[in-house]
Amino acid sequence: MPWDANRGSLPRGLPRAIREPALFGKTSNERLGQKPALVYLRTMTLRKIAPLGQPVLLRRAVPLLDPTDAPTRALIQDMVETLADARGLGLAAPQVYAGVRLILAHLPDPDGVVDRTAAPLVLVNPTLTPLDDATDMAFEGCLSIPGLRGIVRRFERIGLEALDGAGRPVEREAEGLFARILQHEVDHLDGILYTHRLEDPRHLAFDGEVQALTAYLRAEEPESGSERSDDRCCTQ
Ligand code: NI
Repeated sequence: MPWDANRGSLPRGLPRAIREPALFGKTSNERLGQKPALVYLRTMTLRKIAPLGQPVLLRRAVPLLDPTDAPTRALIQDMVETLADARGLGLAAPQVYAGVRLILAHLPDPDGVVDRTAAPLVLVNPTLTPLDDATDMAFEGCLSIPGLRGIVRRFERIGLEALDGAGRPVEREAEGLFARILQHEVDHLDGILYTHRLEDPRHLAFDGEVQALTAYLRAEEPESGSERSDDRCCTQ
């Protein structure tokens, strides 16, 4: 797996001498003949996020046979840390160059607010089933396509079946933003990006232009403006 060499292996809030002791000769513990403090042993691994154009984003991911084996546990831990660092709402394994059916998804509260400091759900081999025909259009973003947002239609209510990180079955219903996050992430497992689902190629904007595009579409097509006027954004 590629490492992001620019991001270091320990929290960036730590002094540089602690994060990168090799640059500063012996650490203070070593000079004192002591064993390194735990902070030296706690590694944090941020995986590089595949940007648009990388073939891994277009391939169908394969099922995970055992979510509890050591490589998968390491992948999950790294993805959790990578997602937290990127402040996204969800992350799919292909986005970190791992072609397996594994996603992380934050669970919004009933008001649609996401606590990005909370632990995301770990979902292995997820399958989604629309519960009815109702759909909703809203802006989405993607960590593999930084700086852009697009208007995408998603089912409002879906059923989810998966395994959690311990291999236990997960079965639940999802609606609204949570349903959208799940559909976006499971699409990644099938090589589908949100840009593939734009119903109109004009429905794409830079982050800072979302309101301008929304206002234009609302004025141009008032009959559908209410449906397209939702400028909620989510980055996955
Ligand atoms: Ni994405």
